[in-house]
Amino acid sequence: MIYKFYQQRIFPHLLNQIMQTPSMMDGRAELLRKVHGEVLEIGFGTGLNLPFYQAVDQLYALEPNRDVYQLAHKRVSEAPFHVQHIQASAEKLPFADNSLDSIVSTWTLCSIAGLNQAIQEVRRVLKPNGTFHLIEHVQYNDNNTLKKLQDILTPVQKVIADGCHLNRNIELELLNANFKFAEKYYFDAEDLPKVGRRMFMARARKV
Ligand SMILES: C[S@@+](CC[C@H](N)C(=O)[O-])C[C@H]1O[C@@H](n2cnc3c(N)ncnc32)[C@H](O)[C@@H]1O
Repeated sequence: MIYKFYQQRIFPHLLNQIMQTPSMMDGRAELLRKVHGEVLEIGFGTGLNLPFYQAVDQLYALEPNRDVYQLAHKRVSEAPFHVQHIQASAEKLPFADNSLDSIVSTWTLCSIAGLNQAIQEVRRVLKPNGTFHLIEHVQYNDNNTLKKLQDILTPVQKVIADGCHLNRNIELELLNANFKFAEKYYFDAEDLPKVGRRMFMARARKV
């Protein structure tokens, strides 16, 4: 009962605030300036990416959580292009095979329960020369202490942050799913706690 109240009434507002951390807003600007055309965004959240799209014609905003999407309404109404809310999960994308040029994920792959299935779905609906643009917080691969701490804290993080994993290796997940990288790099977001600071930014294509 209290947890449900937290999830429905408190968490969406916390998410909306935390996701506006300056380094994350800078990451959005960097990632989204190269995204164009017809775009699917998975885990749209509260619509914080909208001001950063520069050449989008149509955006499919896939967000399964209604309580979170409610906080996006004002931003959606102010967008200079058409935004269509898709009430679905990334594990089962309601799009045809090879149909989209651009798919975007900003800090969403950490929260998807069926990550492997979702990545396979992204691969299925992306056109052969399409691009998956992503920025995610990930597991450390050069600091064993922090890596272990991420493993220890992930069960707690999942409860307080709606299924978010601190310890996912997104680069490896994409390689295992037959993606290659047109661009990729890691950086540390200094204004976030150390356990969630390591970021992975990439533009991935189907092999
Ligand atoms: C940390 S938030 C990031 C929100 C947004 N992408 C942003 O950058 O502000 C993770 C988002 O993924 C969504 N999500 C969780 N599970 C999902 C799933 N299976 N499919 C699609 N989105 C999911 C959550 O509802 C939430 O909006």
